Amino acid sequence: MEPVARLPLPLLTVSALLLLLSPPPPAADARVPPPPRIQPLATATLRRLYDTSNYGKLQLNNGLALTPQMGWNSWNFFACNINETVIRETADALVSTGLAELGYNYVNIDDCWSNVKRGKKDQLLPDPKTFPSGIKALADYVHGKGLKLGIYSDAGKFTCQVRPGSLYHENDDAMLFASWGVDYLKYDNCYNLGIKPQKRYPPMRDALNSTGRQIFYSLCEWGEYDPALWAGKVGNSWRTTGDITDTWKSMTDIADKNNKWASYAGPGGWNDPDMLEVGNGGMTFAEYHSHFSIWALMKAPLLIGCDVRNLTSETLEILSNKEVIQVNQDPLGVQGRRILGEGKYGCREVWAGPLSGNRLAVALWNRCSEAANITMKLPAVGLDGSAAYSVRDLWKHETLSENVIGTFGAQVEVHDTKMYIFSPAVSVASI
Ligand SMILES: *[C@@H]1O[C@H](CO)[C@@H](O)[C@H](O)[C@H]1NC(C)=O
Ligand SMILES: *[C@@H]1O[C@H](CO)[C@@H](O)[C@H](O)[C@H]1NC(C)=O
Ligand SMILES: *[C@@H]1O[C@H](CO)[C@@H](O)[C@H](O)[C@H]1NC(C)=O
Ligand SMILES: *[C@@H]1O[C@H](CO)[C@@H](O)[C@H](O)[C@H]1NC(C)=O
Repeated sequence: MEPVARLPLPLLTVSALLLLLSPPPPAADARVPPPPRIQPLATATLRRLYDTSNYGKLQLNNGLALTPQMGWNSWNFFACNINETVIRETADALVSTGLAELGYNYVNIDDCWSNVKRGKKDQLLPDPKTFPSGIKALADYVHGKGLKLGIYSDAGKFTCQVRPGSLYHENDDAMLFASWGVDYLKYDNCYNLGIKPQKRYPPMRDALNSTGRQIFYSLCEWGEYDPALWAGKVGNSWRTTGDITDTWKSMTDIADKNNKWASYAGPGGWNDPDMLEVGNGGMTFAEYHSHFSIWALMKAPLLIGCDVRNLTSETLEILSNKEVIQVNQDPLGVQGRRILGEGKYGCREVWAGPLSGNRLAVALWNRCSEAANITMKLPAVGLDGSAAYSVRDLWKHETLSENVIGTFGAQVEVHDTKMYIFSPAVSVASI
């Protein structure tokens, strides 16, 4: 039996078929992708457990972020110690490790790229010591590798490292970024003069839009004014928390805070629990498994934060887990969330999220201080208690069973996560 073949075609395949069947659109239309199609969840149980009431309500229709952004950012590993060589070598490494091919396509420069003073015409300048060839040359190099270049500024008087900020310079700075060929802007929140973010972030959205260049707009407002409630109309992603650090405590706290806003994520705009620390050495291999699994399930941006020029095989194995990446990039775009983890479950948590094709991603996350068996009844996560499911283990890369009925569980090592996809094994109509 081949259960997967019985599922309806995923959305993308259907649109790809329609595209093939229809005459080519006029060139002008080709540049403007259609707005994301919002799909309702199939059953009332799923709709109750996975509240999507705010999914797709607020959307910045710039054609970007139909799935969460993937790539690399310089901050978590290099902080201010960056230069054009590191950025170029990182672009090279993303390609040579195969990570680029898996979707990690944004190469994002964080704070410290710019000179401490604006130029004679009040324009931003790259730091002449560390970026002597300029940002345009770097963008050309990165584009030549088939990748995209991201840059950083701040919705305040200065950046966090006290370079010039873009507040009240939005139009000039956006035009400059566009003229350099920049594809992504991370926009920070330091030195903000106490002005509300709802006032400071939209002007840059409008400035980026009027450049005519598609530029991903990533809001880094640290979750201070509950951005999920308003940022969907402003940016393609919004930070829901303060900065991550490379510790189990920071990672788990941030996951919990980000979880609260699950109903607001959707194609076009994503909750951002900050960049990955996988590979930076402060957590165990099991903890990094959990970090990557839960970020993928929460539809978080997958922005690598380690030195990709020098990856261990363990780190590369985590970051390049194609099956986990596919959960993150699923076209349905519903943020997974914690379903079990209170009362008798305690530190034995079950997180889950609906996927296209009537599938469900499930993560068993052991947050206890020793190994634990985590077991669930299938209806608890929204599955039919009497139907049979095919269960795929995304870390073992193995289909465990074609016939899971009623309950499912596994032993999970301390702080580790096991991740699965449940697909209907008999008939779609039964779920
Ligand atoms: C560029 O930055 C990297 C990482 O901090 C450093 O190892 C390297 O020495 C720097 N290169 C130059 C030319 O400054
Ligand atoms: C600018 O905004 C309009 C209206 O939302 C949108 O249709 C257009 O695609 C945007 N253009 C860019 C370059 O973001
Ligand atoms: C590469 O990473 C290892 C740790 O995984 C570290 O000990 C070593 O110094 C790094 N090498 C470079 C050139 O950064
Ligand atoms: C999990 O359950 C199995 C089977 O009942 C048992 O052998 C194992 O010791 C349990 N593991 C833990 C950590 O309790």
